[in-house]
Amino acid sequence: MSNQNSQILKNTNAQILDEFNASIMFDKELYAQDIRGSIAHSQMLAQQGILTSEEQKAIETGLLQVKEEIESGEFKFSLAYEDIHMAVETRLTEIIGEPGKRLHTARSRNDQVATDFRLYVQDKSLSIKEQLKELVETFVKVASKYTTTLIPGMTHLQHAQPLNFGFHLLAYANMFKRDYERFESSYDRNNYCPLGSAALAGTPHNIDRFASSEKLGFISPTLHAMDTVSDRDFALEILFNISTTMMHISRISEELILWSSYEFQFVRMSDEYATTSSIMPQKKNPDVPELLRGKTGRVYGNLISLLTVMKGLPLAYNKDTQEDKEGVFDSVKTVEISISILNEVIKTMIVNVEKMEQACKIGHLTATDLADYLVQKQNMPFRTAYYITKDVVALANNLNKDISELNINEIRSANDELKNVSEEIIMYLDLRNSMNARNSFGGTSSIQTENQIKYFEEWLEKR
Ligand code: ARG
Repeated sequence: MSNQNSQILKNTNAQILDEFNASIMFDKELYAQDIRGSIAHSQMLAQQGILTSEEQKAIETGLLQVKEEIESGEFKFSLAYEDIHMAVETRLTEIIGEPGKRLHTARSRNDQVATDFRLYVQDKSLSIKEQLKELVETFVKVASKYTTTLIPGMTHLQHAQPLNFGFHLLAYANMFKRDYERFESSYDRNNYCPLGSAALAGTPHNIDRFASSEKLGFISPTLHAMDTVSDRDFALEILFNISTTMMHISRISEELILWSSYEFQFVRMSDEYATTSSIMPQKKNPDVPELLRGKTGRVYGNLISLLTVMKGLPLAYNKDTQEDKEGVFDSVKTVEISISILNEVIKTMIVNVEKMEQACKIGHLTATDLADYLVQKQNMPFRTAYYITKDVVALANNLNKDISELNINEIRSANDELKNVSEEIIMYLDLRNSMNARNSFGGTSSIQTENQIKYFEEWLEKR
């Protein structure tokens, strides 16, 4: 190989290595947290007499200028900086000179990145939580319009018992409320400040970690320096919280896809959220809920990736940990957009009440009510009532009717044990009565559903 060629190869290798090693292209997302952390750190250093107040002022003003340069797009992100922490510090020193070089006293990039990333995760936990609250509110509002609208409740995707549609929607309000609480509790659990842990063992400088922690809005400093610089549980928690939220989003999306199919026709997505086919002019496709369902996959992937990155790391910091960020950024963006889109889809969906109620007349949804009636009113053993009810179902099938449509003579003729049955049985087979009969706490009756809506309204008001 000629000298010139080997030089080119060396240069290329160096460039590839820089690219491989650097995180600046993605961790620039943390610029605001990095600057916030550095300002707090410099204030603490000045308070402790480690920096003069002039030095601290120069640092703070310089950092705010760097922030402005980044936000105006003026700042040139270069691979040479390696990561956002070096980029900010280097630019700061370019602007203010000597004091810039003092900022990193009593700090390592290990506690710096742990602080920045934790601040990011905490910020996002709060904003996602707010979005979830809005989503719960939407489900509750829409549910309150449909507390008497019948819809077939299903198990195994087979018609099972009549519900009201409001009750069905409130199942999702409950899921998203738990998601809200998960973000809240992980926020509380992780609200401790890594700054001052330094590289892994603390620092000989006379720092005040409690002061830095307070300035950054944490409850107090983390307890153990080495644990802190190698811990990424907080990132895993937000990835899990997002995964669970996306799983819930995916389930309602799946229902919306089914409900908007020709076979169901329970809902129609507003035109903005349905797309057309490039070849079939008659089609309206549920692309939006399909994408919500599909994006759940990448979010699960991000959780599994980081769990896998972390599983074999000896204490304390290892560069593997740099792989913690992209997945979190991606999951955060995905869940943010997904919640806001789902919110609109639910607000604007068009509900076909007639179709839902018609569908309840398929599948003898009130058969269990007949069996329960015989047990309650005629003291019949349940298994006997069960077989007698099967005869009524068979008769209804022969007559091409739903069990709720049989008249008293037809019911009496189905089985000898029924020949004297009271006419009131007709009431028990009525679909709406059946729904309202399930009046146990948490059940589907309109009364229970209204109660739950009240519960949610109070819950929302307190937040
Ligand atoms: N860019 C690094 C990361 O994201 C910052 C920490 C680097 N520390 C070190 N000792 N190399 O993890």
